[in-house]
Amino acid sequence: MATVQMKVRPEDLSQIQPHSERIPEPAIMVIFGASGDLTKRKLLPALFHLEQNGLLPKKFAIVGVARRPLGGEFAADMREGIIEFGGAKSDDPKLDEFVKNISYFALNFDDPAHYDALKAELERIDAEKGVGGNRLFYLATAPEFFAEIIENLGSHGMATPEHGHAAVVIEKPFGHDLESARELNHQVNAVFQESQVFRIDHYLGKETVQNILVFRFANGIFEPIWNRNYIDHVQITAAETLGVEGRGPFYEKAGALRDVVQNHMMELLSFVTMEPPSSFEAESVRREKVKVWQSIPSVPILNTVRGQYGPGVVEGHKVVGYRDEERVNPESPTETYAAVRLEIENWRWAGVPFYLRAGKRLKRRATEISIQFKQPPLLIFNRMQSSGPCQEIQPNLLSIRIQPNEGIALRFGAKVPTSPEMNVCPVNMDFDYAAAFGTSSANGYERLLLDAMLGDQTLFAHRDGVEITWALYTPILQAWAHKAPEAFPNYFAGSWGPDCADRLLERDGHAWRNDIGKKS
Ligand code: BG6
Repeated sequence: MATVQMKVRPEDLSQIQPHSERIPEPAIMVIFGASGDLTKRKLLPALFHLEQNGLLPKKFAIVGVARRPLGGEFAADMREGIIEFGGAKSDDPKLDEFVKNISYFALNFDDPAHYDALKAELERIDAEKGVGGNRLFYLATAPEFFAEIIENLGSHGMATPEHGHAAVVIEKPFGHDLESARELNHQVNAVFQESQVFRIDHYLGKETVQNILVFRFANGIFEPIWNRNYIDHVQITAAETLGVEGRGPFYEKAGALRDVVQNHMMELLSFVTMEPPSSFEAESVRREKVKVWQSIPSVPILNTVRGQYGPGVVEGHKVVGYRDEERVNPESPTETYAAVRLEIENWRWAGVPFYLRAGKRLKRRATEISIQFKQPPLLIFNRMQSSGPCQEIQPNLLSIRIQPNEGIALRFGAKVPTSPEMNVCPVNMDFDYAAAFGTSSANGYERLLLDAMLGDQTLFAHRDGVEITWALYTPILQAWAHKAPEAFPNYFAGSWGPDCADRLLERDGHAWRNDIGKKS
């Protein structure tokens, strides 16, 4: 298909300087659960990139906290992580300087005496660096420790310091159903004010996700057609080729609906469907997100599909089925694929179906939003007497590629040249992020960590939002738990998921787009 491309000149990009007010105040970042993968693979590389871009305060320290006695090994291990996952050069003198600010503190999450010692250690580092009392606590532990850590931070006076300010970043999963999310919100808000709480969803750190808002609200031509009068239906896919990657025990309790649909996919849905906020500030953006989620009526179980992968071939490699993965119940009922059909009952969207699907071990890695427009009211041109894409006059389609091949494509019909008849074939206008701006090394956490340090909650989940999305999905989870899945596994690894997911769309005369994840 044809593509139209434009490139932003490097000299124009280099003129974009960070605003000085975007550099946070001095602080100590305390990472609980620091011995886990997230710290090494994502958080430390992101912090180092911020440092390289001059976006970290000069007085800054990182304290890793976990149960194991790691001592000096920790900083060395983080250095390796920054090189391996953050692309840093091992002889970069900035890296050595940065690593000097990393230390480790062993702590049992349930031992109050350890929190006294942690507090004293943070005060020592603070006095040495002149940080002024500011703390950012990052909870990257298993979720069962969140409440205990928060309570101890509160009872040891670390949530409301005498000098400076404190904030807490909480990793997902935030609860496992409505009741547990409510309880966790209650425990968090008993210690921290809502303005101090940053519930992280790393999807909101992705440039392409933020770009949905820019695409809609920084351009004048899309909003007038962004509604039920012009849009036929919307598909949102989060397809992974990976399996559970050794996280069997976690995934057994989670499943695809909890792991990806309730959070990442609902964030994508809200960005595509919300009304224009009055400003790009936390309160306005969060208010519009909540309004759109509140307009989704409960989902009949008939409009849901679950699946589990069996053995198969993914990207040329044979892989085992989910039930044969490490530390997974050989009769597991956990879904590795989930699809739902939602509606949004408001003036903009009434009657437009939204199809969401997420799955592991699918054919191709692709997170993509496809917005299919309605056909013109009258088709005056001929259908071509051929097979292939030109056979039917196809409706306009806007595809937002969140990852990979980040970009946006618009499909429209063009006259086939040299043909004496008015034959129409689909072509694409394609915006490719990397070609236009160069590739970015950002891993999503950079923006979010920076915003948390700056106290900007725009790209973080609010307590109400978390509860509303859980309220929508909890009845589905309960119904699924009540009735064992029939015939699991029901899709081959390396396929596009179970057949019943196709039927969900066929009922409406639609089909999943399986040509996603590729540039046009
Ligand atoms: C995480 C899920 O939140 O998101 C994982 O727990 C999933 O199971 C991951 O693989 C997907 O994130 P990304 O950025 O690779 O799309």
